[in-house]
Amino acid sequence: MAFPSRMEHFSAVDSTQRVVREWLESGTNEVAVAVADYQTAGRGRQGREWMTPPKKGLLVSVGFKPSEFITPKHAWRLPAIVALAMRDASEEVAGLRDGTVALKWPNDLVAEGADGSLRKVGGVLGESVMSGRRVKSAVVGVGINTDWKAADFPWALSPSMTSLRELAGRRPIDNDQLLDAFLARLEPRYEALLGGTFDAGGWSTAQRTTGRHVVVDMGVTSVAGKATGVDPESGALLVNDEVTGETSLDSGEVIRCRVL
Ligand code: BTN
Repeated sequence: MAFPSRMEHFSAVDSTQRVVREWLESGTNEVAVAVADYQTAGRGRQGREWMTPPKKGLLVSVGFKPSEFITPKHAWRLPAIVALAMRDASEEVAGLRDGTVALKWPNDLVAEGADGSLRKVGGVLGESVMSGRRVKSAVVGVGINTDWKAADFPWALSPSMTSLRELAGRRPIDNDQLLDAFLARLEPRYEALLGGTFDAGGWSTAQRTTGRHVVVDMGVTSVAGKATGVDPESGALLVNDEVTGETSLDSGEVIRCRVL
């Protein structure tokens, strides 16, 4: 199969997620890729917006039609392989040491500051459509801060965010080079997934949440305790809850994460 089957680059668009969803619904084959220099209505997880100044981030959505090869219970593995491919590509293109970019469950791309705090460098949004026992289609978007200078970060987010440029000692980062490196790493990871293999060890060891004290916002309630790992079968975060003991969280947002 040609990889990608279709790829278009937009100077400005509302959201690359919307573009790729429409392509898939109007018959475009997988794996379809839309890239934008700028989004006017970029979307993040949990209904948040995702705003990046023009060309200061790589904004890309990937459309999959994995059919019977990936069951709904493993749909979460699509955003996971996108996150891992972007992690690998970022470290290579920015010339960073292995492990500089890691994951914060489920798939935030983060870097650890000198004080142990995690700064977000990118995020992943997975949106799947199920049909019975199959994942009919999925659009996975990833936004990563590339050539964005710290001096230009939004004031309120500045303490909790970073960019590849800052991590690379203020070296400029080329979005096209990063896109090529990302796609080159995504293809084998997707082929493996279709063949029934998921890099469970890689996904687990990339998680910086493990071993830290976390607070997870579950919408109406929250859970606090030590994160003991992740479950590569369900994709859940495992937390030793201060109140109820070992618990497995399928969804939620880690709103605090500190070294014990
Ligand atoms: C998050 O909340 O951390 C996920 C952010 C995902 C943003 C990307 S940018 C490309 C794609 N298009 C969107 O509108 N959102 C995703």
